[in-house]
Amino acid sequence: MARVRDFQGDYGPWALVTGASSGIGEALARELAARGVSVAIVARRKERLAELAAGLRRDHGVGAVELAIDLSDEIAIDELDARTRDLPIGLVAANAGFGDKGPFLTADRAQLARMIDLNCRATALLCHAFAPRLLARGRGGLLITSSTAAFQGTPRTAVYAATKAFDLLLAEALHFELAPHGVDVVALCPGGTDTEGPARTGVDPAKVPLGLMNPRDVARDGLDALGRRAIVVPGAHNRLSVLATRALPRGVASQLAGRMIRRVTGE
Ligand SMILES: NC(=O)c1ccc[n+]([C@@H]2O[C@H](COP(=O)([O-])OP(=O)(O)OC[C@H]3O[C@@H](n4cnc5c(N)ncnc54)[C@H](OP(=O)(O)O)[C@@H]3O)[C@@H](O)[C@H]2O)c1
Repeated sequence: MARVRDFQGDYGPWALVTGASSGIGEALARELAARGVSVAIVARRKERLAELAAGLRRDHGVGAVELAIDLSDEIAIDELDARTRDLPIGLVAANAGFGDKGPFLTADRAQLARMIDLNCRATALLCHAFAPRLLARGRGGLLITSSTAAFQGTPRTAVYAATKAFDLLLAEALHFELAPHGVDVVALCPGGTDTEGPARTGVDPAKVPLGLMNPRDVARDGLDALGRRAIVVPGAHNRLSVLATRALPRGVASQLAGRMIRRVTGE
């Protein structure tokens, strides 16, 4: 069992969480608030953020600020940086992201562009904007949400898997590059998790081997891994599947992953 950490002591009084209006991001915000950390929460759905912020203030006595921003906008990161300038943010969870499933050939090109903008461009620029602020504090944490889809090319969700590989490699590199400056970086690589994401992309939970994980457990594993490792894969079954992927020839792993996508979406 993980040692209970003093998150405020380790990273300071405030954290920023993107994609906090639902799913894993909401769970990260709730978990941080339960650990006494105030949160700036980011997503597009303003009402959901406002409701969450009010609940966190009431239940945990922490500060909570909601920032309704579309992170796929070109100026979003500058806006986010400016609007949080007065907050002593020591921990950033770059979690907002989305995917889709289906054939590459018929995917909507504008949707692919939005996915790349959000999952890759916004994630990298968010880290670039906030890393100097963490460095200036002398200590900080950066959690980047990737996926088990990052470990192999995945037919039928090709662009999403590629964006998550980008996130994984970004986090892995920053883990070593920022460590000498006192900034802990971790890539959180969940497998199937019970959020709006799989529901929106046609995943039938009954067809997911060993089922979908609870977002709260995923969030806890991610936060507990900060300062301890570069990559965390929540769930023993997901860790086993990643190990198998690494042991298999790449082509076999990729084809198996594609077969799994067809199975869980019933195609
Ligand atoms: N669930 C899984 O099985 C799973 C597995 C592996 C990795 N992940 C990763 O986990 C992360 C969170 O996903 P989730 O599963 O928790 O799905 P989710 O419930 O759909 O959450 C996605 C979050 O991102 C926000 N978001 C989406 N587009 C945005 C934009 N343009 N600007 C700002 N915020 C935006 C959404 O809020 P608004 O709609 O209000 O903007 C929402 O808060 C993603 O990076 C995803 O790739 C999920």
